[in-house]
Amino acid sequence: MYPFKEGYFAVRNGWYVLAFAQDLKQELVSRWLLNEPVVLYRKQDGQPVALSGLCPHRFFPLGKSKLHDDSITCGYHGFEFDSQGACTKIPGQDNIPSTCKLRNYPVAEHGMWIWVWAGDVDKADRSLLPDLVEISYERAGFTAMPFYLNEIKARYQLLNDNLLDLSHLAFLHAGSIGVMANATEPEELTEAPGVIRSRRRMKNSPAPPVVKTTFGYEGLIDQVNGMDFYAPGLHAGFADMFYPDGHPQAGQLLRKSQVFHAVTPATRNSCYYFFGMASDSVAQMELMKEYLKKTVAEDIDASEAIEHMLGIHGEPTREVVKFSDRNTVRGRLLLQKMMEAERGG
Ligand code: FES
Ligand SMILES: [Fe+2]
Repeated sequence: MYPFKEGYFAVRNGWYVLAFAQDLKQELVSRWLLNEPVVLYRKQDGQPVALSGLCPHRFFPLGKSKLHDDSITCGYHGFEFDSQGACTKIPGQDNIPSTCKLRNYPVAEHGMWIWVWAGDVDKADRSLLPDLVEISYERAGFTAMPFYLNEIKARYQLLNDNLLDLSHLAFLHAGSIGVMANATEPEELTEAPGVIRSRRRMKNSPAPPVVKTTFGYEGLIDQVNGMDFYAPGLHAGFADMFYPDGHPQAGQLLRKSQVFHAVTPATRNSCYYFFGMASDSVAQMELMKEYLKKTVAEDIDASEAIEHMLGIHGEPTREVVKFSDRNTVRGRLLLQKMMEAERGG
C-alpha cells in the first residue's frame, strides 16, 4: 500500500512501542499492532505481558475482559488464559483443545517505552532495540519524560514521512518551532545499519517563535536540527540553538532539546504516535509539554487529512518529488528493503 510497493504494509520483524512504561499497570490495555489485536498488562512481579487480544472462542476482545492473578478471564464465556497465553480453564469441561491458546509476543521494557516484537518469536533480539546512550536518552544530568500518546487515523508511513522531512516545519509549524531556513538550508544525510540521520545547520537565522515564548529570546540564532530514524519504529530528534556571531555570548548554547517520536503501525489506516522528550530541566519540559500540544496536533491533522484524501481519491500512482525529499525517500526504501528481506527476496 502507498507509499510502498503493492502488497507491502509494514516490517514484521522489528520492535514497536505499544505503551509508555509508566502507563502500563496491572490492568488490561487494548492495542493494535500490524492489524492484529493485542492485549497488554503488567504481572504482579512487574513484568510486562503482550498477548493476542482476541479470544479464540468467539473472538471477544480480551482487553474488555478481567485480569486476576496474572491471568485473563474472557468477559464473554469465561475461558482463562495465563501470562504465556496458554488456556488453563474452559468452564464446564476438562478437555482443553490444543488450538485454544493466545499468541505470546516478546516484550521489552526499554527506556520510557514498552516495546513489542511484531514478527517471528525466534527472531526477537533485544540488541535491535535503539541504544539509549546513542539516541541521547541516557545522558548525564538528563531526565526523560513521556508527553503524549495519540492514536491517529492515518497509515503510519504518513507520520514517518512527516518526521523524515523537516522542511515542513517552515510551513506547518511556522507559528511555533519552524522558520524558513528549515526548508531552504541544505541537509546532510548519513547512515548506519538500520539508521538514517539528517542534520540541517542554520546559521544566523531568526529564532522560531518557541524560543521567544519559552525563553524570552528574540533575534538571530545558530541552530542545528537533527533527526535519526531507527527503523522501523523510532525517530530521535534534537534542536540545538546557539547565540550567533556578533552576540556578546556568541557560540554559547542557548537551549538544547531532545525529542523522541515512536510511530507504530496499528491497523492499515491508523497508527500510534508516542511523543516524549529528554532534557536537563524538568521545568522546561513541563513548559514544552503544554506548548507543543498545538504543534503535534498540526502533524496529526496533516496526516489524517492526507489519509482522508487517499481514502476518497484512491492510492496515488505517482507523486512530485522535490530535492529535500531525499531523506523521506531513503526512509521509505529502508523499510521497503527490510520488508522484502523478511519475505526472502
Ligand atoms: S468469546 Fe471468549 S470465552 Fe467465549
Ligand atoms: Fe511536524
